[in-house]
Parts: sequence; structure tokens; C-alpha cells
Amino acid sequence: MNNKIFIGDNLTTMKTPYFNQLKSKIDFIYIDPPYNTTNSKFSYNDKNDKWSDDIYERLKCAYELLSDEGCIFISIDDNELSNLLYLGYKIFKKDNYVGLFITKQAQRSNAKHINTIHEYVVCFAKNKKKLPKFYINRLENPTESEPIKAIINKIKRTYKISPQAAYDELKKSIDKYVKDTGATWIRNYSNIDENGEIFFAKDLSTPGKPSRLDIEEINLHLEPLKTRGWSSKEKILSLYNENRLCFKNGRPYCIEYLYEATDNVSSILDFYSRQGTNDLKKMGLDGLFDTPKPVELIKFLIRCSQHKSTTILDFYAGSGTTAQAVYEINEEDKMEHKYILIQIDEKINEKNDAYNLMKERGYNNPTVDQAMILRINTFLEINNKKIDYDVEVLNNE
Ligand SMILES: C[S@@+](CC[C@H](N)C(=O)[O-])C[C@H]1O[C@@H](n2cnc3c(N)ncnc32)[C@H](O)[C@@H]1O
Repeated sequence: MNNKIFIGDNLTTMKTPYFNQLKSKIDFIYIDPPYNTTNSKFSYNDKNDKWSDDIYERLKCAYELLSDEGCIFISIDDNELSNLLYLGYKIFKKDNYVGLFITKQAQRSNAKHINTIHEYVVCFAKNKKKLPKFYINRLENPTESEPIKAIINKIKRTYKISPQAAYDELKKSIDKYVKDTGATWIRNYSNIDENGEIFFAKDLSTPGKPSRLDIEEINLHLEPLKTRGWSSKEKILSLYNENRLCFKNGRPYCIEYLYEATDNVSSILDFYSRQGTNDLKKMGLDGLFDTPKPVELIKFLIRCSQHKSTTILDFYAGSGTTAQAVYEINEEDKMEHKYILIQIDEKINEKNDAYNLMKERGYNNPTVDQAMILRINTFLEINNKKIDYDVEVLNNE
């Protein structure tokens, strides 16, 4: 299947035969509906009931499309959070409320009472019991990524010059990390392999009866431990075959590299909304869209939900951030996710920066779907990739 872009109203689109055959098959949906703010350029201004009615109908479609293991992430701000949760509970039921993330918005200073500097991403599951456990590679976690990468690189460089100096440096770096963050998990990562990679030598004993273990295939003969058993022969053999065994005093340990360390996800995320604007700027598309979400935020959501090579649906696609997130993850994580985007052919307001940008690029009456396709094509071109999506235009009359 190619990636798919539908141009038209999302409710009408999600009722077409194409989506009918996708019922209960979609693992991951991300949406960023127009917020119902008074300064919104969208058509919902101060029509709260209409906003709720519209979202309700679309969430019902999303519920039907989701697979049993699937979940939906919804970006929302303070104005509509309570409404959204109410509608979500109604459709998904309270038991399937997974939780919400808080992300940061640009600092505003004109509030009379509370300066709201955050937004939310709410998550509901089709069936929370079947939803895979969420976790994230620490290197993908915005709060940890930079300091951990710095430690990894420093040790690799130092190791090439002097292994002993690398060990001294590792100890110092770990102490500093623990002091700065209070996180002690990193203390486990106290070993360095011959390539200068930091790793945790994970114990291979298990709760259970002490007994000896002989693995003839690799000439490994382990005496019984005092109070615990050994991991199974199969597990140790497979670790050996994957080059993941190391030995200390004749005792085997499993090698877990720091660059692979994972963590469960916490509710407060270090993503700033304006990062989305920078993502467009980097591609020479400054001002193409007012409120693009950060590509890294969507990558984080896709990654933490642990769905492998699946279909990612975004039915309020805007500038197509989700498409870029999918391309980048596929490249970085060797995945084969596909995206389906839906975006209505909403006219871009003449007062908007995007209007002029699109005009310069040769669009006479520019619409948001055109801006989205321009963004996707620009991304593909910069990265020397071929166009790999089909576009379907729906007649919504
Ligand atoms: C907040 S923006 C999404 C921004 C997007 N997440 C991004 O990063 O660029 C919401 C988008 O939904 C579109 N939209 C609003 N109503 C729609 C509908 N009924 N069907 C399809 N798209 C719609 C709007 O045109 C707008 O582009």
C-alpha cells in the first residue's frame, strides 16, 4: 500500500468504502483538531456546541477504525479539554482513558490571571487491556536525549585514546548525571565494550531454586548460586548468539547498551509548540502554517505506543506534520509505517503569511491541502525521496 492523502471533509471521507474496509484495523491515530478559541481562524469561533457535535461524530468514526490494540492521541488546549474528555469517556468509556501529556506552548504574558503556557495530548485506547505497554528509548526522550548522547559520544572518543581514561570519565559523567537529575538508573551502565560503547551487565540469575546449568554448545558450566536459579539455557544461548553475553569472574551477564535504554513515559513532555514552526523554517517554508505541531512530538507518540510498521491516521492533517514524522521514523527506526491523511480544502486567509508564500510558489487561490502537499513534497525532495503517496479528492458537495 502507498501512503494515502484524502482531500475533503474528514467525516464524509471516513464514511467512504475505503475506510469501511479499515474498520477495527488502525492501530494509531493522531489528531489535532481546530481548537475552539476565540482567536481561531477556523470556522468554530464561539460555537461550542457545534465544536462538540463535530468532534463527537468524528471520534465515533475513529473508535470504529481503531483495532483492539489501537489508540488515539488528540492534541487539545485548555478551552476544550473538559469537553473532549467528556466526549471521549462517552465513546471510549472511562476504562479506556489512557492519560494525557502536557506539552509547552510559547510563553504569553498578557493573561489577567493565569498565563497558560501548556497544551495537552489526550490518549484513549480502543481497549486499554490490549494496548501495548508504552515506553520510549531514552535517546528519544527530549529531557534525557542530549545529556545521554553527550556521555555516549565522550566515552567513545576517550576510549579510543585510553580505555582507563574512558572508565574514569564514565564514573565522573555518571556522578554528574545523577547529581543533576536525581536519576540513579544510569549507575547500572558502568561498563564499556571494545568499541567504546557503554553498557549495563545485567544479572542472569532468576528467582527460583538454585541448580547447576550446563550448556555444552558453548562450553558453559555454571555452578548453582546460593539462593537463586539461572535464566534458561535457551535464553543464555540466544544471548550468546546475539553477541550479548559478557563474563565477570566466570559468571555470565546480559549486555544492555546505554543507547538502547528505555523508560516508561511521563506525563510532562519537553516539547514546545514553536518547534513545529522551526521544522517548517528549516525546509524554507517559514510561515506556511500557523500552528504546526513539532515533528518530534508526533514521532514520540508513535514510538512510545510501540506499534511496529503500522498505519498512522491523521484526519486533521493541517500542514502534514504526521507525514514527515512517519518518513523520519521509518528512516531512523527501520520501520515501514504508512500514513493516511485527511485534510479539507480550506482556503488560506489572505492576511495569513502562508497566503503570500503559496502565491510566490505559484498557487493562485491557495488552500491548506495544497500547503500540506507542498510541505510533504519539499521534505521528500530535500531527502532525495520519491513521491510515494496517492491523492484522492473527495467531492463533498
Ligand atoms: C490545528 S490544524 C492541524 C495542524 C497539524 N497537526 C500540523 O501539525 O500541521 C487542524 C486542521 O484541520 C483542518 N480541518 C478542519 N476541519 C476539517 C474537516 N472537517 N475535515 C478535514 N480537515 C479539517 C483544518 O483545515 C486545519 O488544517
